[in-house]
This record gives sequence, structure tokens and C-alpha cells, in this order.
Amino acid sequence: MRLSEKTALITGAGQGIGKEFARAYIAEGAKVAIADIDFGRAAKTAEDLGERAIAVHLDVCSQKSIDDAVSKVIAEYGFIDILVNNAAIFDLAALGNRNRSMANSRSQK
Ligand SMILES: NC(=O)c1ccc[n+]([C@@H]2O[C@H](COP(=O)([O-])OP(=O)(O)OC[C@H]3O[C@@H](n4cnc5c(N)ncnc54)[C@H](O)[C@@H]3O)[C@@H](O)[C@H]2O)c1
Repeated sequence: MRLSEKTALITGAGQGIGKEFARAYIAEGAKVAIADIDFGRAAKTAEDLGERAIAVHLDVCSQKSIDDAVSKVIAEYGFIDILVNNAAIFDLAALGNRNRSMANSRSQK
């Protein structure tokens, strides 16, 4: 168990690759915060993954949402050792041409 006593916050973990990161971290002994813009999805995933997972609402495009989520996870676990910033837009635009307002407009669709 390489991650015993560790805690991880994983963004976009309500489904897909983020959920599988969470499953793998738990298998290695970590406690995991399933952070997702879709809280209902995060809650279902946390329930699926068992007692070592909690759900938090987090929108990676909102600093306030990030701060609130981090506060909730620290209140629950005491600290965060690992951040997996998995939530993102799968878009083939060049990184140099992107900015936060473009991300915000996509997350509101
Ligand atoms: N699936 C692929 O083939 C592939 C390939 C390359 C890169 N990626 C990247 O891997 C990551 C995960 O991909 P996936 O296929 O599992 O995606 P997915 O669409 O299956 O899941 C993404 C999760 O992120 C959440 N999310 C969306 N916007 C969010 C936001 N603003 N804040 C927090 N959570 C948000 C969604 O609610 C969803 O639960 C993405 O960053 C994607 O760009 C995926």
C-alpha cells in the first residue's frame, strides 16, 4: 500500500479517467476526495468507491469553488497530500491560444 496515510483531491473524478484514478489511489491505501462540477455524479461515485471516498463540489474554472472545496476536504481529512488536476477540456486548440474565459464559457454549456 504505497499511499497509506495519504489523501488525494482529484478533479473531474465523478466519472471516466478521474474516477479510475480515484479507484487506483484507494486500492493503494489513500483517502480520496471526488471533486466534480456535477455534485450528484461525484456523490454517486464516492458511494460506489466506499468509505475511503468523499464527494465535493468543485468547478476548476472558479477560484471560489476551488477554495471552498479545499476547505471542505481539509475539514474532513485534515490535509491534502496529492492533487490530481484531471478535469479539463478535451479540445484540440493550441494551449497558447487558450485562456480562462474560454474555459469558463465551455464549462457553462
Ligand atoms: N478520454 C480520452 O480519450 C482523453 C484523452 C486525452 C486527454 N483526456 C483528458 O483526461 C481528462 C478526463 O477525461 P475523461 O474522458 O475521463 O472525461 P469525462 O468527460 O468522462 O469526465 C470528466 C469529468 O469532469 C467533470 N468536469 C467537467 N468540467 C468540470 C469543471 N469545470 N470542474 C470540475 N469538474 C468538471 C465532469 O462532470 C466529468 O465528471 C480530461 O482532462 C480530458 O481532457 C482524455
